[in-house]
Amino acid sequence: MGRAGLRSAYVSMTCTRGRLPRGSRDLRTARNTFYCYAVPFVWIAPPEQQTTTGVGMWISDIPRIPPDSVDPLVKNYHWLDMDMALFGAYEHDVGLVVLRDRDGGVTEGPGFNVFALVDGVWRTPASGTLHGITRRSAIELLREGGARVEEGPLAAPDLRRADEVLVTSTAGGVIPVTAVDGSPVGAGRPGERTLDLRDRYWARHADPAYSTPVRYDD
Ligand SMILES: Cc1ncc(COP(=O)(O)O)c(C=O)c1O
Repeated sequence: MGRAGLRSAYVSMTCTRGRLPRGSRDLRTARNTFYCYAVPFVWIAPPEQQTTTGVGMWISDIPRIPPDSVDPLVKNYHWLDMDMALFGAYEHDVGLVVLRDRDGGVTEGPGFNVFALVDGVWRTPASGTLHGITRRSAIELLREGGARVEEGPLAAPDLRRADEVLVTSTAGGVIPVTAVDGSPVGAGRPGERTLDLRDRYWARHADPAYSTPVRYDD
C-alpha cells in the first residue's frame, strides 16, 4: 500500500501451484509461487448503496460444489459454480447470489458470508462455507452487543422470511440485504441492527488496537 501510495486499498496474498515446466503434465513438477498486490479498494456494493437502498440477493438453484470435492474452509478461486449462479442472478437484475448445499442449506456467495435474523436469532451457515475474517468479526461484535448468534444450518425459507439479512466480506464489510428472490426483507430498507453492526465494524477498523498503520514516504 505504501509503495503504491494507496490510502484505501484491497490487498491480496495468494499461493499458486505455479507453472509446469514446458512439456510436462505432471502437477508434481510445478514450482509453487506466491504473489501479492494492492489495488484501489473494491466494494461488493458501494457505500452509498449500503446505507440507502441496500442490495438484492438471489438464491440460486445451482448447488455449491461439495466440501469433499473442494474444501471451502480454504480460500480458493474454484468459482465456476458461483460464477454460473451469478449469471443466473443477473437475469433477475440482482447483483448478489448465494448457493445451497445438497441438503438445501444456504452456504455462501462469491466473496461473502451470509447472516439472517430469524425469530430473534442471527443465523449464519457453519459448514460448506469459508469462515471469513469479517464473518468472525461480525459474530464477535453481535455477541458483544448482546445479540444471539447461532452458527449452523440456514434454510432458504428462513432466509426468505428473515427480519434482517446481511452479508460480510473484506470487500465491503457488513452489507445490508434488502430483498431476497425479489421480495423485500423486513420493510425493504437496510435493517436497524444491520446498520448498527456496520457502524461498529468500521469503528473497530479505526481502533489502533485492531489496526497496523501503513508507512508512507510522504
Ligand atoms: C467464497 C468466499 N466466502 C466468504 C468470503 C468472505 O471472507 P472474508 O470476510 O475473510 O473476506 C470470501 C472472501 O473473499 C470468499 O471468497
